[in-house]
Amino acid sequence: MKLRHLLLLLIPLAAFGFAQPVCAADKGAHSHGEDESPLHEAMKTMGRALRKLNRQIDDPALIDSSKELLARMKAATETAKGLEPSPENAWTGAEKADFRKRLEAVIVTIDKAEQALAEGEFDVAKERVADLTREKKAGHEEFDVGDD
Ligand code: HEM
Repeated sequence: MKLRHLLLLLIPLAAFGFAQPVCAADKGAHSHGEDESPLHEAMKTMGRALRKLNRQIDDPALIDSSKELLARMKAATETAKGLEPSPENAWTGAEKADFRKRLEAVIVTIDKAEQALAEGEFDVAKERVADLTREKKAGHEEFDVGDD
């Protein structure tokens, strides 16, 4: 009887002990999430849209969805264009100008992809989406962003 009581006491204690490091790791992940800059958030929205576009841009059955993804990516690019990274790695004036120029080019490419879809030119739209991936890679190389 006594042993059973001891075990009943030990089980929750053991569970609590195991739970501690898990919670600590969890907290770390959450605080990282809260630390993400508005620029990071805008880029993530662009990244999600581009990933889906890569999969479906040449599928005529998904044209409405592709148009919607392009519009979402364009809005996020407009947002990103007005932002900067977190203050600890502030950019010089030249870097800011280069950043905005590259994002403007991304917006022009999105416009071209939208135009191609409007004309039913799915192959052309696919090429423009490939351009977006190239522009992303070049921008990330320039700004030393680890690619996702
Ligand atoms: C064209 C489409 C683009 C897409 C889909 C895209 C996507 C992304 C994604 C997903 C991230 C987050 C990476 C991570 O989690 O570590 C990111 C970060 C970043 N991207 Fe882009 N990107 C694009 C274009 C560009 C361009 C052209 C530039 C530069 C002119 C650029 C500069 C940056 C910078 C500086 C960060 C780091 C932001 C921060 O964490 O504060 N990106 N991008």
